[in-house]
Amino acid sequence: MSNEAEDPTARDGDVTRREFLEVTSAALVVGAVTSVAAAPQDRRPPGAPVRPRTTIRVTVNGTAQRLDVDDHWTLAELLRDHLRLTGTKLGCERGECGACTVLIDDTPVYACSYLAAWTDGRSVMTVEGLARGNTLDPLQEAFMTHDAPQCGFCTSGQLMSAKALLNRNPTPTPQDVRAALAGNLCRCANYNRIVEAVMAASTRAGAGRASGGAE
Ligand code: FES
Ligand code: FES
Repeated sequence: MSNEAEDPTARDGDVTRREFLEVTSAALVVGAVTSVAAAPQDRRPPGAPVRPRTTIRVTVNGTAQRLDVDDHWTLAELLRDHLRLTGTKLGCERGECGACTVLIDDTPVYACSYLAAWTDGRSVMTVEGLARGNTLDPLQEAFMTHDAPQCGFCTSGQLMSAKALLNRNPTPTPQDVRAALAGNLCRCANYNRIVEAVMAASTRAGAGRASGGAE
């Protein structure tokens, strides 16, 4: 066999009209079968771009939900734009400022950098999930008492990182608090008061546990 047969461009000039029609006809048949098979799930308007979606089961602030999400949605988009939980803020939208921090299975996560589809089977807590009815979380009360919010844009993210800290360490040191909140930037630079507030909340939480109160 000559090398000519292995060159994909070598026979261009030799393809007969019959060969060309046979190949293209086969391709058209395959294309028709594929589009018919996909039709029942394709509800896009004609010409609309493909939007791959995933059905997830996620618990948000204690409520189990079944949601259809676009595969490209971030968790922040799902929360803010589709579930109307706008307490989660967007600052940098690239995993640097911490304004969008929420808890996933008690671990702080940047919602701007986490896909909504990844929360399937998980539990998400946002700042809206901190209060119990009209009763604020001790952290929220301490933030108010200690003037921790200034403009307030970073506050929900600070609260969620602090919540995760107190869940795993109810009696942190100020150094523990600074380390836990290192990923939450405050452009008002109110860091000292934020640390004071978290320390105050931890003291109250510790007192509640010592007297048999709910955690
Ligand atoms: S908005 Fe998510 S880290 Fe800044
Ligand atoms: S209170 Fe303004 S950014 Fe933190």
